[in-house]
Order: sequence, then structure tokens, then C-alpha cells
Amino acid sequence: MAGNNRKFFVGGNWKMNGSKDSINEICGWLTAGDRGDTEVVVGPPTAYLGYVQEKLAGSGVYAAAQNCYKVPKGAFTGEISPAMIKDIGLEWVILGHSERRNVFGESDELIAEKIEHALAEGLKVIACIGEKLEEREAGKTEEVVFRQTKAFKDKVKDWGKVVLAYEPVWAIGTGKVATPQQAQEVHASLRTWLSENVSPAVANSLRIIYGGSVSASNCKELATQGDIDGFLVGGASLKPDFVKIINARKS
Ligand code: PGA
Repeated sequence: MAGNNRKFFVGGNWKMNGSKDSINEICGWLTAGDRGDTEVVVGPPTAYLGYVQEKLAGSGVYAAAQNCYKVPKGAFTGEISPAMIKDIGLEWVILGHSERRNVFGESDELIAEKIEHALAEGLKVIACIGEKLEEREAGKTEEVVFRQTKAFKDKVKDWGKVVLAYEPVWAIGTGKVATPQQAQEVHASLRTWLSENVSPAVANSLRIIYGGSVSASNCKELATQGDIDGFLVGGASLKPDFVKIINARKS
């Protein structure tokens, strides 16, 4: 949009999906497809991070971890650290996804601590926020996303390595996408909040991406909104249509 030079960003969150065979296919169409100027990362399950990184080497598409813990190492069975993600040559991690919050009980505070540590270790972070259906219906959307963003704000020193993903929980995996107006309204409020509580410069430069049932058929209209700087895509990132979403800004 006029007045900003935020690079369009599209992330594919594979969640707990994939096998070597399906990953071979995905990486095939992903690296062959046109991506224009869009910055693209995909988040495979931890077990396949190294495999996907090899498949994507030199393509300009990067792999992201879907989660990590808040310290470099130690007795934390089942966890991986930012140091490990960096050690295998990756730069990105998704933190605070609604499934981490709502299935695994991660708090605003824990997520903020993880973001703080990941940034301190030199990673880039896709930091996720979003309200549940009952919160939206109770008119609390802003209150919730501001509270979640405030938790980040207290720990983030350099917003240059953060992409903020607004993902209303009621839209994730449900096929019930937010309307372009609903998404734009929240993105614009977040930018105003950031301007007032962090700085106008950060509010202007931070990419705020939308997630929740984004598809090839709804992405173009969402992408026309002035404060939507890209997408975090779950289900549709496993299918060749993902390339259309990457190119949502193209006519
Ligand atoms: P969805 O998931 O696109 O399948 O709704 C989005 C997400 O959870 O990031």
C-alpha cells in the first residue's frame, strides 16, 4: 500500500502433517512455482525440519520451526531450543500459535518469554495472537489481542525481527474465514495500538499477517486491505493452491 514498504509475507504452517513422500511433493511445486517478491517460509513438524531445509536449499523459501522453548538446553523432554534451530541453519520460529495456547495451555507470559529468548538467540519470530469466538461475540476482540500484544511488547526489544500474525481462533481450520473488513479492522486497531504503545515507526514497518481459513479463493480480497501484509496459512499450505496465496497481491 502507499505509504509503507512492508514486504508481503506468506507462511505455511503444516502443523502435525506430512511425510517424506508428501514433503517431496510439496517442496517440488513450491520451489517450481512463481513467488514474485513475496517472502515465504514454511513450518514443517520438528521431525522434518532438517529434511525440508535440504529440499528447499537455494530456493529462497525457508523453513521455520513451529515452536521452541525459552532456554538454550537442559532437562525439558520433548522441547527444542532456538540454539538448536540456529545450529541446523534455520532462522524462523512460529510462537504463540492458538493451538499452543489452547490445546497445550501456553500462557501469554510463557509465549512472551519464548519470544524474548528466541530473539535474543538471533531468530526471527512469527508471533501469533487472536480471539476465541466467545470473546468476539462478547465484544472483547480488541481487549484480547491488545493484552496478547502487550505481553510481547514487554519482552521485545527489536521488532524488526518479528512478524505479527492475527489469527482469530474461530477462523482457524474451520473454513470460516474472517471477512476482509473484519480482518482489516483488527489489523488497523493493532497498528494504532502499536503506534501509541511502542512507536509510530514500528507500527508502520511491522508486518501484520492474517491467518484463519485463508484459501486461493479468498486471499486476493484479503490482500487488498491496507493493513494486511500477508498470511499464515494452515490447511491450504499443504496443497499447490498455496502458490496462488503467495501471489495474492498479483493481478
Ligand atoms: P488454517 O490454519 O489456514 O488451516 O485455518 C491457519 C493457522 O492455524 O495458522
